[in-house]
Amino acid sequence: MSDFINNFWANYVAAASVVSILACALLLWLTARKRVVSSDDNTTGHVWDVDLREANNPLPLWWVGLFVITIVFGLVYLAFYPGLGAYDGKFGWSASGQYQAEVAQADKELAPVYAAYTAMPVEAIAGEARAMAIGERIFMNNCALCHGSDARGSKGFPNLTDTDWLYGGTPDKIIETITKGRVGVMPPLGAAVGGADDVRNLAQYVLSLSGSSTDSVRAALGKSKFTACAACHGIGGVGNQALGAPALNDKVWLHGFGQEAIIAMINGGKHNVMPAQEGRLTEAQIKVVASYVWGLSNKAQPAAKASN
Ligand code: HEC
Ligand code: HEC
Repeated sequence: MSDFINNFWANYVAAASVVSILACALLLWLTARKRVVSSDDNTTGHVWDVDLREANNPLPLWWVGLFVITIVFGLVYLAFYPGLGAYDGKFGWSASGQYQAEVAQADKELAPVYAAYTAMPVEAIAGEARAMAIGERIFMNNCALCHGSDARGSKGFPNLTDTDWLYGGTPDKIIETITKGRVGVMPPLGAAVGGADDVRNLAQYVLSLSGSSTDSVRAALGKSKFTACAACHGIGGVGNQALGAPALNDKVWLHGFGQEAIIAMINGGKHNVMPAQEGRLTEAQIKVVASYVWGLSNKAQPAAKASN
């Protein structure tokens, strides 16, 4: 497959490859044919610096043989493997095809390992040392790049080890989040709130919700502006897990703490994406990694009954 809009570059590279190989063959043939000895002392007749002469010592035959083998190998390789522009090669081999085949093979081999977990509840899987070792490995390979290897997240990437959830921390919600992904959207609302002063007052009110306000006069002035926010963040900023709108009345800040961070959120909004893992991970893998995530903030319940 080509990423270009037409085949010009593919054909260009293909032509350059074939012409280079043929040119090598031609060069080899011409030099083999040409007789350069012009005198009977086995020199070419060139003389430099008074007495320097160029002897005619042709390449050893085995060396010439290597050249020929290389040329033949190059042509055969290009016939069977992708190398000539858009031509796929007679074997139809591709790096992504080999990768897909290996993934399918690994999934098949691992199916019995996962089979035990598909029927188990997340709370019980989280109590199994082997499942947690698998879950940790899946997490390191697929999630740690965003959520951190300790799953504590960073600015913009939620901490998965605490009990503060954007979308809910029940096993079902965690599985849903991982499978389908999430898109958290906070629209830019600076203009709707008013001028820079109004935005500052509102930011102070938001800070007051978690007892962090530094200017109670501004906070009181900003209170009425919060109606625009309560639609998503709830009255009093309790948050709304259906929308992924974080609670504003706690001390957990996904996008930074303080007046300036809140002003930036109001003016700029946010579009934050958790990529869907279905298609990348199997259903069973998602269940195991969800159990691992659930286990980071909950005690596993080996017994059948689970309560949160
Ligand atoms: C490309 C970065 C990225 C990767 C990879 C990623 N996540 Fe996320 N994840 C996010 C972001 C960003 C959010 C927050 C989404 C939002 O703000 O709406 C999130 C949210 C979540 C949540 C919801 C947290 C809550 O408070 O409700 C869970 C659970 C989660 N991720 C688990 C995982 C797991 C498990 C993996 C690996 C299979 C993973 N994530 C891979 C970026 C990522
Ligand atoms: C349409 C729904 C919606 C409205 C309206 C809305 N928000 Fe948000 N807000 C969100 C979502 C969703 C997020 C989380 C973004 C993400 O997933 O990263 C968020 C995040 C925030 C954050 C960051 C919280 C943190 O933990 O860092 C602040 C602060 C905030 N909003 C303040 C406000 C204020 C103030 C208003 C009113 C002017 C407002 N929001 C209106 C949906 C909304």
